[in-house]
Amino acid sequence: MGCRVMLRRMRAADEDEFLQLAEQSAELHADWVRTPTDALMFREYLGHFSDPTAGEALLIKRVDTGAIAGHATLTGIVRGPYDRAVLGFAAFAPSTGRGFMTEGIGLTVLYAFGPLGLHRVEADIQPGNEPSRRLVQRLGFRREGFSPEFINIGGVWRDHERWAITAGMTTSLPPCDPNILP
Ligand SMILES: CC(C)(COP(=O)(O)OP(=O)(O)OC[C@H]1O[C@@H](n2cnc3c(N)ncnc32)[C@H](O)[C@@H]1OP(=O)(O)O)[C@@H](O)C(=O)NCCC(=O)NCCS
Repeated sequence: MGCRVMLRRMRAADEDEFLQLAEQSAELHADWVRTPTDALMFREYLGHFSDPTAGEALLIKRVDTGAIAGHATLTGIVRGPYDRAVLGFAAFAPSTGRGFMTEGIGLTVLYAFGPLGLHRVEADIQPGNEPSRRLVQRLGFRREGFSPEFINIGGVWRDHERWAITAGMTTSLPPCDPNILP
């Protein structure tokens, strides 16, 4: 797998491109994730991540065009005996189906294990979300369990499968430099 994407922290100047892509991706995201769709939501979202303990909000950017292909978050970071984070992700509609997200999420996991020094990355996926399940499986995550009524999305408590990868399970991750751009 080549290195066709790079990671960069989300910033204020991304607002216009991000919101335009979020609008184009409304149908793709509807059942699965809540994405900021207006300026107020975007600024609140970014403000939340200005606290370093909130985790990381990363953009997955295409190397060829510089366009934002999708985004990823590492939240719920617990240090000490856990050294773990919870992964969230969503593609933007214009860039789907070409492997950019597989590579970008692979890089995000490498970033968690490398520069962030974490041991475990978890992904919680709704049972019907086949594209997300296939994506994490492709990267070597294992299914560890199932939690009924686990996450509230759009006002409804949704069941989730619990997927995870640990630092010794990196054989399916892309051979790319996991450092993020400034
Ligand atoms: C899940 C999601 C991120 C996948 O995004 P995507 O852009 O389609 O992902 P990719 O392009 O990396 O992979 C999609 C397909 O392209 C294929 N593909 C095509 N060209 C490829 C290439 N050059 N390299 C690798 N894979 C390629 C993959 O094999 C994969 O096939 P599959 O779905 O049959 O397994 C997207 O569907 C999404 O945003 N869903 C809504 C949000 C969501 O569910 N988030 C997660 C909540 S837990």
